[in-house]
Amino acid sequence: CGIVGYVGAQSAQDVVVAGLKRLEYRGYDSAGVAVLADGGLAAARKAGKLLNLEKELKDRPLPAGNTGIGHTRWATHGGPTDANAHPHLDNAGRVAVVHNGIIENFAALRGELAGRGHDLTSETDTEVVAHLLAEAYSSGGDLAEAMRQVCRQLEGAFTLVAVVADEPDAVVGARRNSPLVVGVGDGEMFLASDVAAFIAHTRDAIELGQDQVVELRRDGATVTGFDGRPADVREYHVDWDASAAEKGGYASFMLKEIADQPKAVADTLLGRVDGSGTLHLDEVRIAPGVLREVDKVVVVACGTAFHAGMIAKYAIEHWTRLPCETELASEFRYRDPILDQRTLVVAISQSGETMDTLMAVRHAREQGAKVLAICNTNGSTIPRESDAVLYTHAGPEVAVASTKAFLTQLVACYLVALYLGQVRGTKWGDEIRTVVRQLSEMSGAVERVLGTMEPVRELARSLAGHDTVLFVGRHVGYPVALEGALKLKELAYMHAEGFAAGELKHGPIALIEEGLPVVVVVPSPRGRSVLHGKIVSNIQEIRARGARTVVIAEEGDDEVVPYADHLIRIPATPTLLQPLVATVPLQVFACELATARGNEVDQPRNLAKSVTVE
Ligand code: G6P
Repeated sequence: CGIVGYVGAQSAQDVVVAGLKRLEYRGYDSAGVAVLADGGLAAARKAGKLLNLEKELKDRPLPAGNTGIGHTRWATHGGPTDANAHPHLDNAGRVAVVHNGIIENFAALRGELAGRGHDLTSETDTEVVAHLLAEAYSSGGDLAEAMRQVCRQLEGAFTLVAVVADEPDAVVGARRNSPLVVGVGDGEMFLASDVAAFIAHTRDAIELGQDQVVELRRDGATVTGFDGRPADVREYHVDWDASAAEKGGYASFMLKEIADQPKAVADTLLGRVDGSGTLHLDEVRIAPGVLREVDKVVVVACGTAFHAGMIAKYAIEHWTRLPCETELASEFRYRDPILDQRTLVVAISQSGETMDTLMAVRHAREQGAKVLAICNTNGSTIPRESDAVLYTHAGPEVAVASTKAFLTQLVACYLVALYLGQVRGTKWGDEIRTVVRQLSEMSGAVERVLGTMEPVRELARSLAGHDTVLFVGRHVGYPVALEGALKLKELAYMHAEGFAAGELKHGPIALIEEGLPVVVVVPSPRGRSVLHGKIVSNIQEIRARGARTVVIAEEGDDEVVPYADHLIRIPATPTLLQPLVATVPLQVFACELATARGNEVDQPRNLAKSVTVE
């Protein structure tokens, strides 16, 4: 979910709604806003996208006020209805609360409140907070203290922002686990899940830590722990501007972000590699001595980031000769994994807020493992809680389906693998230097692929009526196949599956029937030609069963030509780096196919970009 709070001199409704627009990527099941005006509190809530709320506000405007809060929801407790939309109010309509996360003990609290005569009307866990806050405030009259009292009763993960009609110039917020940042303006203050919500007003921000409460007044913010003690806070300046989060003439953020990829890749390498093939990663604050002692690497991530992690395994094992496992963060956390001081855990997360990944990080550190985060969001929770971080420099990614963040995650994974190799002095020293130089050329290669995508778009449009598309690959082409299938599921709502090409014959080949589109990611014919030979056989097996083959192969790979119904060319690259170019046509393919099916690509149904619940 995305939340916004504002106190200042502008129209709170306008500032809050504009902020919500920037946060819609965090959830779009419903939206709502509450404003303090004329000694009272007025609220509007609407199921569906923010647009519905905007229409509602146009038809029935709220009274003008300068203090307000808002919410855009990714449904957890209770379906996406008007009644379940935030803000939630107490019975007297004097307290309004928005919430991100899950309050695990809400059923018990709800029972207690009902026992004390409260009438709870929604199915959400949030409503209990409005009632608890109303009680605490009416008994003490101190807004921040009332919020702290409430937080001490709550279990689970939550970020809360609230206003009380009796305090027309204040907004109170609380943070445990889910993100919350303060924006510091001139005579106005902001609260939001992400700086994007207030970047048009100020680039000065304060990061809130775990278990902290903040009270905003026009002229400043007071931050305390849940226990009431003053808290140390970190102020920072946001270095990207509002235009980075605009569509810039593209029909969707996704198209813009796909087009941004050459720059994102180059920016992620900037200052980290030099012409001699040496890496400069002093920012990775884990002492080389510690890295030399590492005896196992475990990569954890979710969704698209997990696919980057699967590719990291191939790279890390090859260049470092260290055993490496990659696991879904949500599975890893609850499996009782074997970790110790010599384990390096690499946690990959674009947002730095994904709860599954955060829990895996915490678990790993509790076991004594060192955690290195690969993250795109400065100041987010996962890097804060890790031993070290390597930031990807993709810039803000708004479309829910990840594209440029994925490519930069790959670059960061290669850097980590090569750096480990460099620090540990593996026998692949020369290869490492060569690959570092080759990595520098990848931005240009991505650019070249982007220049040849028209036939891919045409193909995608021609397949819009199909129900199923399969993807197969080997070696690093296997995670690429999984990513191609995930993109298609997310965007086109089609049945799409990725397989290791070698596994086809062990089951999935039964799915193949006349005309079924099967996308095959072909490894380079140079270098590991064994791999290439195997996949050429696989394409023949697929085609012999009537499939329509879409073959992604290197320029100059002539062997695949006779078996390709459609041939998509990508530049020649070293085997391990191929995902950087092979993924791009699959992103374009999914985006175009979704558009042809009438879907909105930036905000696919049921999804959210940043999932801050487990
Ligand atoms: C959500 C998004 C995915 C993303 C995943 C991990 O499910 O819809 O696109 O890959 O979270 O996100 P992260 O921010 O941790 O990379």
